[in-house]
Amino acid sequence: MINSKPILFSAIQPSGNLSIGNYIGTMRHWSSFQDNYECLYCIADLHSLTTLNKNFSLQNSVLDTLALYLACGVNPKKSIIFIQSHVYQHSQLNWILSCFSQFGELSRMTQFKNKRKIQDNYVENINIGLLNYPVLMSSDILLYQTNLVPVGQDQKQHLELTRNIANRFNLLYGDIFTLPKPLITKTGSKIMSLLDPTKKMSKSDTNKNNVIFLLEDISSVFLKIKNAVTDSEMPPKIYYDLRRKSGISNLLEILSAITNKKISILEKEFEGIMYSEFKKIIFDNISKFLHKLQKSYLVYRKDESYLKKVAKEGAIRARLKSEKILKRVSTAIGIN
Ligand code: TYM
Repeated sequence: MINSKPILFSAIQPSGNLSIGNYIGTMRHWSSFQDNYECLYCIADLHSLTTLNKNFSLQNSVLDTLALYLACGVNPKKSIIFIQSHVYQHSQLNWILSCFSQFGELSRMTQFKNKRKIQDNYVENINIGLLNYPVLMSSDILLYQTNLVPVGQDQKQHLELTRNIANRFNLLYGDIFTLPKPLITKTGSKIMSLLDPTKKMSKSDTNKNNVIFLLEDISSVFLKIKNAVTDSEMPPKIYYDLRRKSGISNLLEILSAITNKKISILEKEFEGIMYSEFKKIIFDNISKFLHKLQKSYLVYRKDESYLKKVAKEGAIRARLKSEKILKRVSTAIGIN
């Protein structure tokens, strides 16, 4: 049977507690994609090795992430859910594509430069996995002839690199790889940090007050929202203006994403109210959202044997699919 649905691939690194930024930037759409696309949702544990910490249980974090995928409505009957390291084809293609990637282009990636920079110095003893990181990401995507990749704005550059690598390969060996397109939403693709709304909210931020985590205790969110940076406009006004009101705009984006209401509608609703009242409404909505998500998460997380079954079946299906393209690549370059 020919499957005519476009192929959609997305992944998250299980390197810690996922943030509301991860949810809003990608996961919130995953469930609805399942009816229109052939979806693959991957847990990128090999990517997490780039920042491995001995005291951190990657194995637990992988299961936490899988339970969160299910709690967000990803259905293993409709989509392929799998763990990257269970499908060896990813590492195999990673090596092959490394040989079609250039040191210059990889060292110019913004994320790599940020990781390499400590204060104003570029460190030399950075692990090569961090340099190679976007090539592994390209392998994830290209292995499935992916058409669409839903991601937040921070991954756009990696998608461009993926297209460049695929093009380079195709020019030499014919049309082997499909060129994927990023799917980046207009609002919510870059949720900002609460205390510094000029920088991205990141799950690895050392200051936890910058981040709302999907699995955090709801009571701790109250203070985080209360302390979130706003502005000193007098009288206070709630409207979207990224340049002049980055804090308020960020809170509006978060609220819009979790309530499914347009920002223009929210602006009207909040005409004339104080920032403290606005923040209380934000907290009420976030706590409602987190409560529902965490309740569903706990049901899945308790059943480890079910989670392992989902991962095992997903890996079998992902291997079957990825093996086909890996064979074509191997034949083209003469290693099969
Ligand atoms: P990761 O784990 O850093 O983030 C997962 C997804 O969440 C998005 N995101 C955000 N979106 C909006 N606002 C934010 N503050 C925010 N923070 C994170 C990211 O853009 C991403 O879409 N390399 C990837 C994982 C990966 C992948 C792939 C993604 C591995 N292979 C193949 C797509 C396709 C990463 O580290 O994402």
